[in-house]
Amino acid sequence: MEESLQSRILELRRLKEEAKLGGGLKAIEAQHAKGKLTARERLELLFDPNTMLEFDMLVTHRATEFGMTERKAYGDGVVTVMGRVNNRPVIGIAQDFTFMGGSLGEMHAAKIVKAMQYAMSAGMPVVFLNDSGGARIQEGVDSLKGYGDIFYMNVMASGVVPQIAVIMGPCAGGAVYSPALMDFVIMVDKTSYMFITGPRVVKAAIGEEVTEEELGGPRIHVTKSGVAHFIARDDKEAISLVKKLLSYLPSNNMEAPPRILSGDPPERMEEKLNTLVPEDPLKAYNMYEVIEAVFDKGSFFEVSRDYARNAITGFARLNGWVVGVVANQPMVLTGALDINASDKITRFVRILNAFNIPIVTFVDVPGYIPGTYQEHNGIIRHGAKVLYAYSEATVPKLTVIVRKAYGGAYIAMSSRHLGADFVVAWPTAEIAVMGAEGAAEIIWRTELSKAKTPEERQELLNKLATEYKNKFLHPYIAAARGYIDSVIEPAETRPTLVRALEFMLTKREVRFRTPPKKHGLIPM
Ligand code: HXC
Repeated sequence: MEESLQSRILELRRLKEEAKLGGGLKAIEAQHAKGKLTARERLELLFDPNTMLEFDMLVTHRATEFGMTERKAYGDGVVTVMGRVNNRPVIGIAQDFTFMGGSLGEMHAAKIVKAMQYAMSAGMPVVFLNDSGGARIQEGVDSLKGYGDIFYMNVMASGVVPQIAVIMGPCAGGAVYSPALMDFVIMVDKTSYMFITGPRVVKAAIGEEVTEEELGGPRIHVTKSGVAHFIARDDKEAISLVKKLLSYLPSNNMEAPPRILSGDPPERMEEKLNTLVPEDPLKAYNMYEVIEAVFDKGSFFEVSRDYARNAITGFARLNGWVVGVVANQPMVLTGALDINASDKITRFVRILNAFNIPIVTFVDVPGYIPGTYQEHNGIIRHGAKVLYAYSEATVPKLTVIVRKAYGGAYIAMSSRHLGADFVVAWPTAEIAVMGAEGAAEIIWRTELSKAKTPEERQELLNKLATEYKNKFLHPYIAAARGYIDSVIEPAETRPTLVRALEFMLTKREVRFRTPPKKHGLIPM
């Protein structure tokens, strides 16, 4: 009896050792030779030591065709675990390229779906480490069903628990849509790509010659498409980015992110901000200097840094509390809003709202970028998304108007009129329908047309523009109406925001009670 028990335990140990090898030693070597870690090595890096609880380690596929009966491995090409990251529970899903290229069949998918169900029922973020050749060809429609189930779970979990996708190998065809449905996408340089159709099909279909890297490498997705939010040098850096990101997020939508005090005094004044904005309104300054000076030292963590750089989005901490930062960047395209910046801001604002993270917005926006490209590609509906996202956001919303706040873009960038809770302006703020020269050209057109020479016209225009500037381009009319709560010295920005935030943390009310509805219709 005892002997048979012992042999069963030995058998179990053997099975588990075999499962840990995935597709076998040779395939593990090939994985390492590509500069990639294995699924298990990646999970070991992600989770605190000795906190992982693996499940479905002994799952195998049940496909019988195309030689599949002989090709089986415990785990079926994906490792699923619960574990702790900085002592907070997280679900980890890691595709194992060493078994059939991490391809996704029926049971592989069922494991992922189960992991996501655990995440939702216990309120844990999902970290999905992608490394897969896509739908397992031999399993045909069962693998497509598996993808469908995963996409459905991604949508159900959206806004309930944070979802982070890391692309650490191939990700092609319909497989790209699970990461695309998640909240953040991190891609590893050189070893990852994402595209709907690979270079060979592209060439056959439209004759275009392009490499994998040019078509869907990490650089393309962080700069041009906006599909990915971060690029990492290697697997190790990707995992440390995941950990950092998790530190700014709550475990689920019923919680707030953890508060981490840095020792940076909440009352710290920053005199250098008093001289940051140049006298000449046409001169740029760097909005990052404002952000770095205001938030807890070293706490700013930028998201989508390389995409639509005329807008800045990221996380930071104010007296330890996590906030989301949205800002215009006057150094790029004068900080004007365009389609991509609108997209970037909208998505980020909605993530912040879903996860109970207050929003701090810094405004210096001359308007929307004009011209046929923007109009024909729908700046109207993309710009409308910014208005929509800020209006529906019920988290505390604090706004700092630094300089230009013109026209529709003033309203869009978290104005009081869209429900901002506390709006302050620097004395350099210019809150108006438009800038001085443009306004003077319109309202004094008749007077200007009477000028006899171009020089005379320019002189008159300068005079009229100055008149307009003195009358409108300052924060005091808005202050007189209560549209802004206070005009503050730039140096006082940090203490003002800390106080405003701490009063607003208990905000519960929505401005208007909306009638019951399934969901609004954000113009996407
Ligand atoms: C079954 C697959 C597979 C797949 C790779 N393998 N992809 N098996 N189904 N989709 C197997 C290979 O046969 C090989 O098995 C092992 O994984 C490693 O693959 P290699 O080709 O040797 O590796 P590498 O040279 O690194 O190339 C990786 C790759 C390539 C670029 C991913 O394997 C490839 O192009 N695979 C097919 C990709 C694809 O077209 N997938 C379907 C996409 S459509 P052995 O036994 O030799 O070790 C899709 C639709 C989803 O995903 C729809 C959702 C709605």
